[in-house]
Amino acid sequence: MLTLALSKGRIYKETLPLLKAAGIEPLDDPETCRKLILETTNPNVRLIIVRASDVPTYVEYGGADIGVAGKDVLLEHPNAELYEPIDLKIAQCKLMTAGRENEAEITGRLKVATKFVESTRRFYADKGQQVDIIKLYGSMELAPLVGLADRIVDVVDTGNTLRANGLIPMEHIADISSRLVVNKASMKMKHAQIQKFIEQVRWAVEERNND
Ligand code: ATP
Ligand code: PRP
Repeated sequence: MLTLALSKGRIYKETLPLLKAAGIEPLDDPETCRKLILETTNPNVRLIIVRASDVPTYVEYGGADIGVAGKDVLLEHPNAELYEPIDLKIAQCKLMTAGRENEAEITGRLKVATKFVESTRRFYADKGQQVDIIKLYGSMELAPLVGLADRIVDVVDTGNTLRANGLIPMEHIADISSRLVVNKASMKMKHAQIQKFIEQVRWAVEERNND
C-alpha cells in the first residue's frame, strides 16, 4: 500500500490531474466528505488529508510515503530527512516581506510578524539585520495595521490580499511552488512502486508544461 499526503484546497485541486495521469483517482471528494483517508481507483494507493504545514512531518516520520508540500512549508523544516524529487510547478507564489505603504519611520529593532519563522530568521540574518520575529498562524496582514509589527513575511501571488489591507510587497525572499516529497525508508522498501509513480508524475508535469 502506498500512502500519499495532500492538503485540501489549492494543492489538492492542482495535484488531481497529475495523479490522474498516474492512474490514481480518489473515490471521494475531501471538500465535501469528512473522511481523512480516501481510497482511490488504484487499490494499492490511498490518500490522507492533512494540514498543508503538516505534510513534511507525516512524510518524514512515515505516516505517508509521499506528499505534496509548498516550498514555503519545506523551508520551515530545514533538517527534515526527505527526498524532494520533483518540482510540480503548482501553487506558485513568492515569499516576500511587506509593510504599510506610508509607514512612519521605524525606530529600534524591526518587528516582523509571520508564520514563516525559519525563512524570516534566515533572510534577516543573511542581511546582518537583527529583528524581533513574532510568530502568527494566519491573517498576518493585520499585524502592521494594529501596531503589532512593522513588517510581515507572507506568500504573495496577485498581491490582492496585501492591497486590500493597505500593504505593499517589499523584498523578495524566495520563489515558491509545490514539491513532491518522499520518505527515505519508503524509497528503499517500495522502490519499484515509488519510482514508477515518480516517473508518471514527472511525465505529467512535462506534458502540462508543453501545452
Ligand atoms: P495550513 O492549513 O497548514 O495553515 P495554508 O492554509 O497556508 O496551510 P493553503 O492555503 O492550502 O494552506 O496553501 C498551500 C500552499 O499553497 C502554501 O504552502 C503555498 O506554497 C501555496 N500558496 C499559498 N497561497 C497561495 C496563493 N495565493 N497562490 C498560489 N499559491 C499559494
Ligand atoms: C494566501 C496567503 C495570502 C494570499 C496571497 O491566502 O495566505 O494571504 O493567499 O495571495 P494574493 O497575493 O493572490 O492575494 P489564501 O487565499 O490561501 O487563504 P488562507 O489565508 O486561508 O491560506
